[in-house]
Amino acid sequence: MLIVLFIPLFIVALILRLIKQRSPKSLDKRHVVITGGSSGIGKSAAVLAARKGANVTIIARNLEKLAAAEKEIKGACIHKDQIVTAVSVDVSNKIGIHNELNNLEEKVGPIYMLINCAGMAICGKVEDFTEQDVNTMINANYLGTLYPIQSVVPRFKDRQEGIIVLTASQVALMGMFGYSIYASCKFALRGLAESISMELKPYNISVTLALPPDTDTPGYENENKTKPTETQLISETGGLLKPEVVATKLLKDALIGKFFSFVGVESYILTTLCIGMTPYVDFLEIMVQSVLLGPLRLIGAYYLQTFHNIIQRCYLQKQKDN
Ligand SMILES: NC(=O)c1ccc[n+]([C@@H]2O[C@H](COP(=O)([O-])OP(=O)(O)OC[C@H]3O[C@@H](n4cnc5c(N)ncnc54)[C@H](OP(=O)(O)O)[C@@H]3O)[C@@H](O)[C@H]2O)c1
Repeated sequence: MLIVLFIPLFIVALILRLIKQRSPKSLDKRHVVITGGSSGIGKSAAVLAARKGANVTIIARNLEKLAAAEKEIKGACIHKDQIVTAVSVDVSNKIGIHNELNNLEEKVGPIYMLINCAGMAICGKVEDFTEQDVNTMINANYLGTLYPIQSVVPRFKDRQEGIIVLTASQVALMGMFGYSIYASCKFALRGLAESISMELKPYNISVTLALPPDTDTPGYENENKTKPTETQLISETGGLLKPEVVATKLLKDALIGKFFSFVGVESYILTTLCIGMTPYVDFLEIMVQSVLLGPLRLIGAYYLQTFHNIIQRCYLQKQKDN
C-alpha cells in the first residue's frame, strides 16, 4: 500500500528537481575570505576561488606560510585587477579578527563569502589531554569559527546576501576513539551551523557545513603524530583524499546552498544516517533519505562493529604486553 503512494510521490519529486535545478552562484569579482587559507583545504579553496575570478583574502597566523600561499593564489587569478590579500591574525582573538574583517571590507570590498577553514586536531585518550590541549582545540575549531561569523553576519544581513561555510569533519557526526575533544568541538559546529542556517535563511544567507574525511594536508600530517594506535588503525580503513578534491566539493556545495558538503560513499552513508533535522535542498532528497535510513543503519552498525573489533584487539594486545 505504502509503495503505491511512494512511487507517484517519487516521480513528482524527481520532476520538481529537474524543473527547479539550482544554478551555482558566481564568485566573479566577489570578495571571498578564507580563514586557514595558508595551508591544506583552505589554501586549495582559495586557489579555486581565485580561478573563479574572486578577490581572495586568506587569514592565518604564520607570516611565511601566508606569503607563500598568497603568491600561489595570485598565480591562479584570471583577471588582471583581482585582489589577493593575506592577513595575519589568530581567529580566536575576537577583537583582532573583528577589526581585520572591518578593515578588509573597506580595503577590498564587501565580503560575499566567508569560508572558515582554520582548525586543528590533537588526538589522545580523554584522560590524557592537558588543559592547554583542550583550550587550543576549542579556540581554533569552535571560537575561531564563531568569531568571524559573528563579525560578518550583521553586514551580510544588511546586504541581504552572503555565503558562510563552516569546516567541521566526519567526526562532527560520529564520535571516534582518540578524538574526544576534537569531535566535541566539531559537533558544536554542527549545532552552530544548523542554528544560524535557520536564523539567516530569511536574509538570503546560506550556510554550509563541510565534513571532510581524512585529507592529505600539513594539518593531517601533524595530527598523525598524536594518533593512538587504535585511531590510526581505524583511519586506515578509509582512504586519504587530496585537499583539492575536498575544496572543489566544498565550493560547489556552498555555491548551490547545500547544507552538508561531503565527498564519497562512506560520507554519504554517514550524513544520511545523521541527517536529523538538517535543512534539505528539495523533496526528492527527503524521499531518498526516508527510504535509505533503515538499511543504512545496518551498514552503519557493520562499520561500528569493525571499529570496536580493532579497539578490542588493541586492548587485548596491550594486556598481553603488560
Ligand atoms: N586534513 C584532514 O584530514 C581534515 C579532516 C577533517 C576536517 N579537517 C578540518 O579542515 C580544516 C582545515 O584542515 P587542514 O588539514 O587543511 O589544516 P592545515 O593544513 O593545518 O591548515 C590549517 C590552517 O588554519 C590556520 N590556523 C590554524 N589555527 C589558526 C588560528 N588559531 N588562527 C588563524 N589561523 C589558524 C593555519 O595557519 P597558521 O597555523 O599559520 O595559523 C592553516 O592556514 C580544519 O578545520 C580541520 O579541522 C581536516
